[in-house]
Amino acid sequence: MVVIDGKKVAAEIRKKISAEVDKMILRGERRPHLAAVLVGDNPASQTYVRNKVRACDECGFSSTVVRMKADVSEDELLEKITELNANPEVDGYIVQLPLPPQICEQRVIEAIDYRKDVDGFHPMNVGRMSIGLPGIKPATPQGILMLLERYGVETQGKHCVVIGRSNIVGRPVATLLVQKALPGNCTVTICHSATSNLKEITRLADILIVAIGVPHFVTADMVKDGAVIIDVGISRVEDGDAPRGYSLAGDVDFENVKEKCSHITPVPGGVGPMTIASLMTNLLKLRQMNDNQK
Ligand code: GUN
Repeated sequence: MVVIDGKKVAAEIRKKISAEVDKMILRGERRPHLAAVLVGDNPASQTYVRNKVRACDECGFSSTVVRMKADVSEDELLEKITELNANPEVDGYIVQLPLPPQICEQRVIEAIDYRKDVDGFHPMNVGRMSIGLPGIKPATPQGILMLLERYGVETQGKHCVVIGRSNIVGRPVATLLVQKALPGNCTVTICHSATSNLKEITRLADILIVAIGVPHFVTADMVKDGAVIIDVGISRVEDGDAPRGYSLAGDVDFENVKEKCSHITPVPGGVGPMTIASLMTNLLKLRQMNDNQK
């Protein structure tokens, strides 16, 4: 059994990006610049944005965090988005989700200029990905594909079962893996909260991707011998022994499932670091795409 080391692969990717940025600087070009809009004080969102800023530093990107209060109005946020769209110094930006309830997430996502949509959430980017056109792909699904490729996991003709149908992970990873391209060319099944015979389906999976945010949901009896397990979940669970009072748990019962599978991603240190490395890849790509349009 192989434990897939997302932390290591993500570090390799950041190193490659940093070498690219060094070349840009030598050519006298401006550093790629990522902005992150952080609304409110959700602790997990704060951690994610902090990690994204750190990754920017390691890649040689500049970064700006735009902080807005939890009670900000949708109009104020949309005004900030208009500003970021118009700012020629910002190559790409994210609006960290979730947003407070007074704000319509979809309206915000659609206000982002798709040429600065480093998350790949804008309908233009989602649509292009769906029909196999080049563009910005969502960070977590792209990071998962990078891991499968890096670890030589064969995908062609394999049955991939995805648990979860979110716009951020479940649907787009299914879209990418069903495409006639590699990694991909899988037979894909998407399972969700209304799936009635879940265990029967997951036991057919050669590749099982779990993205529902329910700690330890996938148990060993749900997994076929030799399957490849990709755990996207990362939940904070109370833990009196942990220094911060909580520990991080994936959607997979790692200790028991690891005995049955061929490959498995740990939590933390699996998909999480790849999401951020993939976001960095997207920023460099956006910069190069936008430079070519000038
Ligand atoms: N919240 C959870 N995952 C993500 C992500 O990939 N991007 C953004 N912007 N917010 C998130």
